[in-house]
Amino acid sequence: MIKESYKQIIKSVKDQSRVKGLTHRFYTYPAGFSPKFVSSAIENLTKKGDVVLDPFMGGGTSVVEGMRLGRKTIGVDLNYISFFVSKVKTTILKPEQKEFIEKWIIQFDKKLKNKIVLDKFTKKALNLINYKGLGKGQIYRLKQILCGCSYFLKNLKKVKNKKVNNFLKLLILRSMQSTLHNRRPICEFETFKQKIKSNCLDMLDGMNELEINVKLNSSKKILRSSAIYNKCASKSLSNKNLKDRKTKLIITSPPYPGINVYYGTWQIHGRRNTSLPYLILGMKQPVNRSVLNFQYPKNKDLRIYFETMEKVFSKLYKASNKKTLLMQLVAFNKLDGAFDMYLKTMKKCGFEEIKLNGRKRIWRTVPNRSWQATHAKGELSSSKEVLLLHKANGITR
Ligand SMILES: C[S@@+](CC[C@H](N)C(=O)[O-])C[C@H]1O[C@@H](n2cnc3c(N)ncnc32)[C@H](O)[C@@H]1O
Repeated sequence: MIKESYKQIIKSVKDQSRVKGLTHRFYTYPAGFSPKFVSSAIENLTKKGDVVLDPFMGGGTSVVEGMRLGRKTIGVDLNYISFFVSKVKTTILKPEQKEFIEKWIIQFDKKLKNKIVLDKFTKKALNLINYKGLGKGQIYRLKQILCGCSYFLKNLKKVKNKKVNNFLKLLILRSMQSTLHNRRPICEFETFKQKIKSNCLDMLDGMNELEINVKLNSSKKILRSSAIYNKCASKSLSNKNLKDRKTKLIITSPPYPGINVYYGTWQIHGRRNTSLPYLILGMKQPVNRSVLNFQYPKNKDLRIYFETMEKVFSKLYKASNKKTLLMQLVAFNKLDGAFDMYLKTMKKCGFEEIKLNGRKRIWRTVPNRSWQATHAKGELSSSKEVLLLHKANGITR
């Protein structure tokens, strides 16, 4: 007999509806979870006040849903973009801070003029994009938009409140992403201006919706004990709740074996990937980008992937107790042996598999994701994700 709670989760994992609501659309992070799946897993496997961990939080879907449902959520990610986005998505603003943002945007919109001044930021950005070969009109529009972004960032320096400043910084990051990433042709300057305003209103609405839900479901104490970290998942134990093995559920989607996902870059007009988002956030991009995929650039096999996986999951085991459940969605290409190796590594780290559906595992086709197979022999279009549930076997290691 399949447990009713598992049935609910299995149903939700098949959901492919558009991501909407709360603060979920503040930024489009690659390979994001469906909020419906995450909330079903959290609701069916934990109670209010329980500790829920996502050690590879990405766009922060699980931390937002955990927070909404009144759980103590802990999110970790090595990528600064993930950390920044998740932090803003889970920071409730005061009414006066939201009013300030609304007014600031109206003022900014009046000041923002369509002119090209190639300052330090714009020159750096153009260097990163490698726009050569684009038509004159496209280059002109690109420059206008980059100058608009630079002007936004200059004005932002005067906003001293950190929470408000971060919210606005995410607003420009989102607006630049929705204007430039995977879009052709490059839009008119006016469209970019409109996007800043409409994204701002959408974000404030999302923030209000989250606040209402949090108030319904959580106490202040829970919010205080929730946390977000920018570090390697193997270092999560610095959090007291994790060190004390209080974790009830680990819900996550780790890097995928043999699949290279661009977690921190954008593609502009078919050019090679650019690290423009890091420049907007004023951060350096990781020297080795493959590190976010548990890899090294020239590595031709999956040895480093599984070594890193073992290092991280043995630490996650240390954050677990006998009742801790670990639910994950992992994607695989047609890569001989990788899935078996994945299961073996989980076992080696102390986790025992629970089959959600009696005998069979739940596989689903990966919806609409941009990634690249690095070592796979199979077709990209054949990428499939598997839903896995494990429990910690209780042996202290
Ligand atoms: C598949 S994504 C997670 C997506 C997430 N479920 C969401 O809803 O957006 C995997 C994440 O793992 C992160 N990552 C890679 N190596 C890591 C490490 N050693 N420690 C923590 N995070 C890491 C990547 O930066 C990426 O954000």
